[in-house]
Amino acid sequence: MSPVNRPRRLRLTPAIRRLVRETTLQPDDFIYPLFVRHGENRRIPIDSMPGQAQLTIDLLAEEAREISRLGIQAVILFGIPAQKDAIGSDNFSDDGIIPSAIRAIKAAAPDLLVISDMCFCEYTDHGHCGIVNSPEHDRYNPRLPAGYLLNDATLEMLGRASVVHACAGADIIAPSGMLDGMVGAIRAALDGEGFAHTAIMSYAAKAASVFYGPFRDAAESPPGFGDRAQYQIDSANRREAQREIALDIKQGADMLLIKPALPSLDIIRDARESCNLPLAAYQVSGEYAMLHAAANMGWLGLQGAALESLISIKRAGADMIISYFAKDAANWLERA
Ligand code: PBG
Repeated sequence: MSPVNRPRRLRLTPAIRRLVRETTLQPDDFIYPLFVRHGENRRIPIDSMPGQAQLTIDLLAEEAREISRLGIQAVILFGIPAQKDAIGSDNFSDDGIIPSAIRAIKAAAPDLLVISDMCFCEYTDHGHCGIVNSPEHDRYNPRLPAGYLLNDATLEMLGRASVVHACAGADIIAPSGMLDGMVGAIRAALDGEGFAHTAIMSYAAKAASVFYGPFRDAAESPPGFGDRAQYQIDSANRREAQREIALDIKQGADMLLIKPALPSLDIIRDARESCNLPLAAYQVSGEYAMLHAAANMGWLGLQGAALESLISIKRAGADMIISYFAKDAANWLERA
């Protein structure tokens, strides 16, 4: 046995392991997702996401203060509107669910960053991420298949809704629909209305993943027909993810987001090595649900499994993680 090949020397005690630890987690690594709905004083639990709930706007002030107190710097918002329609108009209405939620959070916790998930699937009655080609409305294009997600018509609406959210106080707009040109269109719309200071965190590489299943219950946004494979990336494709990332950088993204997280560690690593933008990963609803399900069966310890997943995501290259475990992790880390 060679005297030099003994890496176990550095694992001997907790102190030395801590000294040589390469990756650490802190509360300010996390972004906490919130599901917001109309009504009063209601916290409606989401069955497939234990511990998570839809909150009414009046409960957001206290929630925002608690999140801030834990040392978490940002929330990302998802809205359940009172009414859905073909073009998702709640998303660009001043008194829509998200603009109202943004104002409530900013009034209660002005320093907490508010990220607005910019997509139409929660607001359209068909559940797709924008305007769908249909003979029933004036955007109909007979050359394209019925049911096709109209790209450029949707870009206009994304720009319009982003300005409304920025006006309400959103610090960061996070387009998540995987439409071609969405970052450039939103940047132009924001700049045109005096919001050059509002940042864009682009869902640059978002796979068409089954791991979003529980979220679609939570946000009441499953597609009414078909799936999202025409706009989200095939999870088999690593090079295509890099192409999407390069396009979003070119269009002016300030930060990049990759999702899902654990199934995309190679994509996260590629992104980290190919650019210098801050990089976020989204540990999605299905990743959260899986860990809870196994813990519930007594098959895994929740805290250990959650923290190991989170540290692996960070080790792969993420600077920050959107996670339903954000508050739990901040509490666990405080006690560690
Ligand atoms: C789209 C959006 C989705 C998620 C975040 N933004 C759903 C989808 O693309 O179907 C999923 C997040 C999760 O699963 O936790 N608005």
